[in-house]
Amino acid sequence: MSAEIPSPGRTSGGYGRGVPDAIFAHRRLALIYDAFDGPRDDLDAYVGLAGELGAERVLDVGCGTGSLALLLAGTGRTVVGVDPAAASLEVARSKGPDAAVTWIHGDAAAIPALGADLAVMTGNVAQVFLTDEDWAQMLRAIGTALRPAGYLVFETRRPERRAWEEWAADPGPVTLDLPGIGPVEQRREVTAVDLPFVSFTYTYTFLADGAVVTSDSTLRFRSRAEVESSLAAQGYRVLDVREAPDRPGREFVFVTERLTGP
Ligand SMILES: C[S@@+](CC[C@H](N)C(=O)[O-])C[C@H]1O[C@@H](n2cnc3c(N)ncnc32)[C@H](O)[C@@H]1O
Repeated sequence: MSAEIPSPGRTSGGYGRGVPDAIFAHRRLALIYDAFDGPRDDLDAYVGLAGELGAERVLDVGCGTGSLALLLAGTGRTVVGVDPAAASLEVARSKGPDAAVTWIHGDAAAIPALGADLAVMTGNVAQVFLTDEDWAQMLRAIGTALRPAGYLVFETRRPERRAWEEWAADPGPVTLDLPGIGPVEQRREVTAVDLPFVSFTYTYTFLADGAVVTSDSTLRFRSRAEVESSLAAQGYRVLDVREAPDRPGREFVFVTERLTGP
């Protein structure tokens, strides 16, 4: 299926656009990302999946501030984290300077052949790939990074759950008082719903100095059938489609296996 991307998302996010959303790429926003993201109750399930699949070499695509990559490295696995947002990678590095994680600054297209047992995308990274071509190229690049019969596991929000309606009903503000930074206020506005695309803007006000920084994002909501057919087209077999244990009914977690060579 091809789809026209709404104009608010044309310059931000997504494969090959080069410039990740400010919420990940702006230094001041990257430093506060984890605090506003809240507790990561979602990550243990991914560590469990790595164990279930017997994965020792793991690639974290769109690793952001490194929450999962560092958790996986803490279990003794060899981990590579890839992200195009340098500011987020700086935060990741600062959290575990001695951690056994190789950080790669670049988008999914920059992933080298790694012979990885497993690639993961958490935090709904899958939804930043807006066009069919973006999505297919990302799947091919991950296929190249995986060993034959390696696994790709990722989540994506279920469109039928219409998360954007909850986002629009709850614009904030949320204010957090952060050590060394001071109080920061976050507001969210859903700016366009042009399915399968949803665009929204976060506005952060740093109350200590009055600085205001905004971040525009567009996400694509793909149906289960659409994801399954695109995976098959790029040489992946769907082994299972699960619930995210911490968000039942909200997301699909695809557990897939690479069938073809690069
Ligand atoms: C919602 S964050 C999730 C971060 C991390 N996976 C987590 O669970 O905390 C989405 C991440 O996708 C990254 N991203 C955006 N475009 C990307 C691309 N083309 N290739 C790889 N990552 C990308 C962003 O920079 C950001 O760090």
